[in-house]
Amino acid sequence: MQAETTTAKKTSQVGAVILFGPPGAGKGTQAKQLIQMFQVPQISTGDILRDNVARGTELGKKAKECMASGALVSDEIVCGMVSDRLRQEDCARGFILDGFPRTVPQAEWLDTLLQEEFFQKRHARAGATGVPQVVVSIVVEYNQLLQRLTGRRTCPTCGRIYNVHFQPPRVADVCDVDGSRLETRRDDREEVIVERLKAYEEQTLPLAKYYRGKGRLFEVDGNRPADAIVGEIASLIEHGDRL
Ligand code: AP5
Repeated sequence: MQAETTTAKKTSQVGAVILFGPPGAGKGTQAKQLIQMFQVPQISTGDILRDNVARGTELGKKAKECMASGALVSDEIVCGMVSDRLRQEDCARGFILDGFPRTVPQAEWLDTLLQEEFFQKRHARAGATGVPQVVVSIVVEYNQLLQRLTGRRTCPTCGRIYNVHFQPPRVADVCDVDGSRLETRRDDREEVIVERLKAYEEQTLPLAKYYRGKGRLFEVDGNRPADAIVGEIASLIEHGDRL
């Protein structure tokens, strides 16, 4: 039965899945499990930006200061980046967006891209009808977010996410998977966290209203262990268009 379910998830259309929530809600943690289940790519705008900053690209130079201060990078830069990524072949069955969209203009831009360029054309060619967006809002209380962000450690090699309070590695500061030394993100300092949460409240939270108005927003309680949440999100991805 398990094998049948897994096969179905791998072969069916998944469409555009948006993980929405404040910094530290667990978007990246959930995305990493969902991409294994559904075999579609995770598109994390934060990861793509950090990679550009680390490699010193033109895009990275433009984004660096905003990210270090906890502010959002401009819509123009981020939408250009996402547009390039979504046009890659591995996105044809769908994708998990983690950290995008984050402003109402980004959401409007994405709606247009998906309707006019992406699903209609690609899926028309493939003989499919297109798949609606599922927007999953992961709701977590403020003090829990602070603990999650200050306790986060990540593996620079495989990207696995840990937490010294809630999901510690077997050996302190060492990745369970590949033995790399774990790192603390530069924007996980308390003064930057406060700015990131402020940017979320002011610029990103209005998106909940935007998607609720379109009947596409599904809320999940994120104040539970990560494994307890992923099943609920998977079910929304599979049945969200019929709820
Ligand atoms: P980004 O990288 O997207 O950061 P974020 O949205 O602030 O989200 P985080 O990655 O901090 O949190 P998360 O929800 O993924 O939580 P995680 O799973 O890691 O963005 C960084 C910056 O890039 C932005 O500030 C901005 O400058 C720029 N940017 C990115 N996208 C942009 C856009 N679209 N527009 C403009 N600018 C953009 O979990 C956190 C911790 O909690 C971990 O330690 C984890 O182990 C732990 N944890 C997770 N789930 C649980 C659980 N259920 N129980 C206990 N612990 C848990």
